[in-house]
Amino acid sequence: MTMESPLAIEVVTLFPEVVRTALGMGVIGRALERGLVRVGTEDPRAHTHDVHRSVDDRPYGGGPGMVMTVEPLATAIAAAAARLPAGSPRIYVSAQGRRFDQSAARRLAGLSGFLLLAGRYEGVDERLIAESIDEEWSIGDYVLSGGELAALVMIDATVRLLPGVLGDAESAVQESFAAEAGRLDWPHFTRPEVWRGRQVPAELMSGDHAAIRRWRLKQSLGRTFERRPDLLGTKQLNSEEQRLLDEYREERKL
Ligand code: ADE
Repeated sequence: MTMESPLAIEVVTLFPEVVRTALGMGVIGRALERGLVRVGTEDPRAHTHDVHRSVDDRPYGGGPGMVMTVEPLATAIAAAAARLPAGSPRIYVSAQGRRFDQSAARRLAGLSGFLLLAGRYEGVDERLIAESIDEEWSIGDYVLSGGELAALVMIDATVRLLPGVLGDAESAVQESFAAEAGRLDWPHFTRPEVWRGRQVPAELMSGDHAAIRRWRLKQSLGRTFERRPDLLGTKQLNSEEQRLLDEYREERKL
């Protein structure tokens, strides 16, 4: 059997310890320990040469805030990229990027490596993006104080898709199937069977696998209809899906 080489990720950040600490726990921590993924960091401050080790400066044209300067970032990115397989995309995480979603995570999980640049302050000098960045991604329509949390979100969503990372491979397959199919997950229950008078749905207790599958699909479609109709807007439902969604709406008078 040939051992696949681990996915290689590099994060260029002023807060490498934040990134490393956050990745140390849970599913992703275990994947790192088991060598299924490798995450390196590069601090632009280590690439400064002035006494203040400055990485930012005032914006041309004036206005509030500071902009990250080109040179420490360019050399930090080059140092990090040199540890990655050739052709690994260099990704800037910013609120101006394309929206990151499950299919973007799926694509990253299929690469041999990628680099994430986490910005701070008002952002980075645009010429650095032109020179050293291949793609720009946002995790949502809100503004974070820096790219580190966004980079961590992207790493988490990606690494859990790697083969062998989740103990029960099924759970990744089913959840991400739902996400990629443009619908929400169904409700989950565990023991006890009754809690504060609330029963677990009878279908889940039936042992009838076909009935369970139908119930879950129906809940998944119904929740998506109620909470995220935008996701269903673009989807063509098959006849079973349409019937289950109609039943759900009928039952709830929606
Ligand atoms: N940096 C600041 N805001 C961000 C966002 N929404 N997504 C990615 N990076 C960011």
